[in-house]
Formats: sequence, C-alpha cells, structure tokens
Amino acid sequence: MSSRSSFSRSSVLALGLAAAGSFVTAAPCDIYAAGNTPCIAAHSTTRALYSKYTGALYQLKRGSDNTTTNIAPKSAGSVANSAAQDTFCSGTTCLITMVYDQSGRENHLTQAPPGGFRGPESNGYDNLAGAIGAPVTLNGQKAYGVFISPGTGYRNNKVSGSATGDAAEGMYAVLDGTHYNGACCFDYGNAETNSLDTGDGHMEAIYYGDNTIWGSGSGSGPWVMADLENGLFSGQGAKQNTADPSITYRFLTAIVKGEPGTWAIRGGNSASGALSTFYSGARPSGYDPMHKEGAIILGIGGDNSNGAQGTFYEGVMTSGYPTDATENSVQADIVAAKYATTSLVSGPAYTVGGSVSFKATTPGFTDRYLAHTGATVNTQVVSSSSSTALKQSASWIIRTGLGNSGCYSFESKDTAGSYIRHFNFALQVAANDGSKAFKEDATFCPQSGLSGSGSSLRAWGYPTRWIRHFANVGYIASNGGVHDFDAANSFNNDATWSTSTGLA
Ligand code: AHR
Ligand code: AHR
Repeated sequence: MSSRSSFSRSSVLALGLAAAGSFVTAAPCDIYAAGNTPCIAAHSTTRALYSKYTGALYQLKRGSDNTTTNIAPKSAGSVANSAAQDTFCSGTTCLITMVYDQSGRENHLTQAPPGGFRGPESNGYDNLAGAIGAPVTLNGQKAYGVFISPGTGYRNNKVSGSATGDAAEGMYAVLDGTHYNGACCFDYGNAETNSLDTGDGHMEAIYYGDNTIWGSGSGSGPWVMADLENGLFSGQGAKQNTADPSITYRFLTAIVKGEPGTWAIRGGNSASGALSTFYSGARPSGYDPMHKEGAIILGIGGDNSNGAQGTFYEGVMTSGYPTDATENSVQADIVAAKYATTSLVSGPAYTVGGSVSFKATTPGFTDRYLAHTGATVNTQVVSSSSSTALKQSASWIIRTGLGNSGCYSFESKDTAGSYIRHFNFALQVAANDGSKAFKEDATFCPQSGLSGSGSSLRAWGYPTRWIRHFANVGYIASNGGVHDFDAANSFNNDATWSTSTGLA
C-alpha cells in the first residue's frame, strides 16, 4: 500500500477532508479513489459525484426550438441546478439527450443505437427519456432523475478505461425501487461494444426488475440481479438465490462487482442504513472467465433489448474490485445526500372524488371535450343542450392514481370501474383488470398546461407523452415523435385542456 493511499483511506474521506481550510465532504468517486478503485465513469442527473466537480451533469433538448443546454451542479460537488432546467423547459417539452461522465474520461451516455433489437425511433435508435418524469429532492433541493420507459435507452460503445476480459470492476446505481417491470432489461453497467449478444460473460451489469426467465430471489420481486449476458443471475448456478430479497425501498442502492473467479451483489436503502450482501462467491458455470467488452448501458440489455422500465438517479463504474468497506462509505454518502420524493404534479388542483371535464384548447376545436364512444377515447362537440348521455361520456371521476398515488386516474362517469388508459399509445376506456400494467397505463400526472394555461396530462409511465387529441381521437403523444399523432405541429395546444367540473 502506498503512503498516498494509506493517507487517504475512505474512512478518513467519509468524515471529510480538510481542503483550503474548510471541510469538504467526500463524494462517491472521491471515496472509490481513496480505496484504489477509481471511477472510470460517473453518471448522475441529480448531483456531482466528485466533491470538486463543477462541470455539466446532463444535456437537455427542448421541443420548442430543438436547442440544447447543459445542467450543472449549483456549486462544486452539489445538487443539479434544476431551476435552470425548469426555465429552459418552461412552456415546452424536454428530453435528456446526454448524461455526462464526470470522471474526465468523457464516457458520456447518449441515445442508444440499434442493436440486436431495434429501438422505436425511425432510425432504430432508442427513445430519449423525458426530463420531468422523476423529480426528487436531495437535502430538500429539487433535482430530476432519468425515467426510463419501455423503448428508452442510453449507451456508450467506446468507453475509455473500463474493464475488459476478466478484469476486475465495480459499480453502483441509485434507482427507484418502485419503478420496474419484468421485461428485458433495465440494466446499468458493462456490455457489448457492438450492441449485439456476443455470448455468455460478455456483460457484467446491474439489473433491476422482476424478470424470472433466468433467475430470481426470494418472494415475487423485484430484485437486484446481475446481467452477465444470456442470463440474469441472483447468485451462482441455481436459478433462485433466496438470500437475494424482494426490494421495497423507494430509493435503492444496487451494487454488482466482479473479479476473476468471484463476483457479488449488494444492496440497501439509499435513504437510510447499511448495505447487505445478497451474494458473494463463484461465477456461474460458463461465465468463468468473463469476456467483458467494456461498453456502458443504461436502461437496456446488452443486445439493446429495450422492453424494461426503471428510474436511474446516479451510478458509477470503477476500475478494480471495490472493498465492501469502500462501498459502505459510498452508501453512507448516498444516505447523507438525503434522497426524498416530491410532487409529480403542478397547475390546477384535482380533487379526488370530484368530477372533471376536459375541453380542447386548440383554436377551432374549443367546442370539443375529451369523451368516449365505447372503448375509443375521442373529442366530441358537447354543449349545454347536449343529451345527458353525451355529457356523461365527457365526464370523468377523479381517482387517486392507480399506478402512482402522486398522480391521478380518471374513471368513466357512465361506466363505473372503467378508466382512461393508454394502449399502444392510443387512449381507451377499459375496465380495471387489476394488473400492474393497467394501473400504470391508467395513471396521469397533471401539470400546468404546455400552452400556458389550463392543464396538460402526462402519462406517468411515459413522461415524454401527454394526452393529446389528433384528428379528434385521443392518444398519449410525444412532441415530434415517430407516429402521425406525435406531430409537432399544434402539439402544445392539442395537449392542453381547459378543466371544469364534470358536465354531468
Ligand atoms: O442476459 C439477459 C439479456 O439477454 C441481455 O441483456 C441481452 O443481451 C440478451 O438478450
Ligand atoms: O400505450 C403504450 C403501451 O402499450 C402500454 O404501456 C402497454 O400496456 C401497451 O403495450
């Protein structure tokens, strides 16, 4: 051990290093460096991961003029300047185009290119994340995470300094433990450099979700597992490792690390307490030695499988196998960052149990309301002299969000137990089947109207999409996306509704 490393032990750093006469709290990558397992990539839209970092955290692109801007910490080592995002994105839509690498190696994450699976963009790329889907506070200061919907993904296939072959590495990510699904694969970590499945052992990434095709932990999930390619592993050979628990934390610290012959999964509550080790031991058969390639993925599988969902707040990749003690110090820093939830909605108030009607605001269409004809959600001309039946078809009961209690669901006034949901991005009125997918698809987060008045209704699970009328039919539409109903022309007006008490 060199004198330098023995001086800068993580325990010392975790307590704070004297710098220029004042105390500076060590950030995750300072702690990893002190443990001789430095970050080779550090990604976060919420905060600096080095105590001295002042550079850009992420890049946004807005729909109004397609210009971009960078969001940086408010000061060295601090929380992201979310007010700068709110100003830049005011009255329009915003996408996260890039998550910068804070390590200095320029291992930035950008829109994932087509791989074994093609993305939904017309050029086969994955979608970009919406900028406002994952608001949080850190020590009371607002920031935004990266909300990954199915079809969304980020990648860097030309990474400098990452582990290749059987070399040692570590990684952690802070995730939303309540946002997951069973599709392949919400991952963060090391993957193929050509976006194709090149075989067992060509990946080593954190996976989070309740996929049971390859492996599982105890209970019904979701679990932290490792995506080692052609397999999500909760432990060594056996499909199920009951020491890998179902996660219920809102904020989750997930860890995967690997070195020749050994790997581990660890995890804990990002808001309090310590990490636990869910697995540590030998590699599964066929995965020893490893054949890591060194790309970095976020939100997708190694071959660009992009059906999964999840939320990423921060994470790093290291060179070398971090000690448990180093990771424990990182966890203490994450807890000290004080992640907490904040409101998902803004604009006009919605009162649970009340009724609401949504009037179109697009010039030429302001005699129309969001209504339904059978299962089809559309806009229809409704006036005071309309029939009660028509007024009822344009009236909705406000319910607590079925998929997220911070948002709302809209039950049909004329068909009790049926709600507005989206399916293949078209709106339907459908009976609640009790499934997680139904509940999430029937959850909308109102915000101040995109056109400057009234209300816009963001799809909770697709925060790039809002309830919009297009050719008098209802969709969840993204501003300038690939479908005809995503047309940028008239987007803000079509996605802004004037609300009133239900017509009937
Ligand atoms: O290992 C699980 C998945 O299998 C990988 O992410 C993907 O590349 C393959 O389809
Ligand atoms: O509407 C988009 C998606 O289409 C829904 O989330 C899903 O249920 C369906 O496949």
